[in-house]
Amino acid sequence: MRRIAISVAATTMTLSLAGCGMLGATGDSASASPSKGNDLTVGLLLPEKANTRYDKFDYPIIKSQVAELTKNQGKVDYANADTDASQQNQQMQKMIDDKVDVILLDAVDAHAIAGEVQKAKDAGIPVIAYDRLAEGPIDAYVSFDNELVGEVQGRSLLEALGSHVDTSEKIVMINGSPTDPNAKQFKEGALSELNGKVTIAASYDTLKWKPETAEANMAKAIGEIGKNNIAAVYSANDGMAGGVIKALKAAGVTSLPPITGQDAELDAVQRILNDEQYMSVYKSYPDEAQAAAQMAVAKVQGKDIQFDALTQDKVDSPTTKSIPAKLIQPVALTKSNIKSTVIADGIYTVGDICTAKYKAECAQVGLK
Ligand code: GAL
Repeated sequence: MRRIAISVAATTMTLSLAGCGMLGATGDSASASPSKGNDLTVGLLLPEKANTRYDKFDYPIIKSQVAELTKNQGKVDYANADTDASQQNQQMQKMIDDKVDVILLDAVDAHAIAGEVQKAKDAGIPVIAYDRLAEGPIDAYVSFDNELVGEVQGRSLLEALGSHVDTSEKIVMINGSPTDPNAKQFKEGALSELNGKVTIAASYDTLKWKPETAEANMAKAIGEIGKNNIAAVYSANDGMAGGVIKALKAAGVTSLPPITGQDAELDAVQRILNDEQYMSVYKSYPDEAQAAAQMAVAKVQGKDIQFDALTQDKVDSPTTKSIPAKLIQPVALTKSNIKSTVIADGIYTVGDICTAKYKAECAQVGLK
């Protein structure tokens, strides 16, 4: 009820102020009691570097959005933990000591970081969980609908196997890191589609999402199941799909089975074009990163109405219930929609994707 009342009030206020020409593009007038102006610092903690999304998209987009929202006065203090949970604890402690105004946290280990989240709270620094749901008293969460990511992957795999699919078909599952709560949701989403339709002949969780570990586990699965008996491979992301393909090729497989992925990494988009990988999941990083920056700035500036409007969903973590959240929809990425997803959003240019090696495939799907 309260939420509904607030958003109606927000809309009315926005309309009337906009009508009087009083409201700037950023909606400054919606502020209740601003606790801070534009001169603010957002601490940003990202989990790894092997996956290109973090350094290439999440960080720069958040940085430019914070600059835009604060008339170039706000700044982002960025640290990447390179998959090391204890390093991330130290990075977060440093941000608390430095008294940043708000922390955006993408946890390496959602459980291990909970103590630091509590310390930030004790120091009066709000924490917004970014992409992965950190444990502890966080103020909000922004991510994709992660269960849906898994469902989209599972459904695509069945689609690739075709109407003949039955439980004699053996699938290998290469799941994400057990320290990442998203990985569990991706797996559950995928299993909700695959269970009862195919046989999961082998399933691995991949510590730190390491492509090399995925490759080693895939080699093991090939040894146990036989290289000609694997109908498809569920890989939770593109980095690991790369490892899976290496293992299959090393075992002498020439016609690759359908393989899934996630993140729309550049090399995965190219593998989709030349039929080495069946699909990826495109998650609009601009949508996620911009929402995170808006939430962070609104929180620091005390713009409660804007903050509420940005967080209309609710999620529970193992430690905290009813966390205000924003969950964004993912999209299955296959050959047919490269143009309307990663190219339309400006993630890659046709030139990035269609290098000499992929010219023919690009022409086939109308990428020019
Ligand atoms: C997940 C994230 C994915 C991918 C993966 C590996 O938490 O949602 O987009 O980046 O981690 O880092």
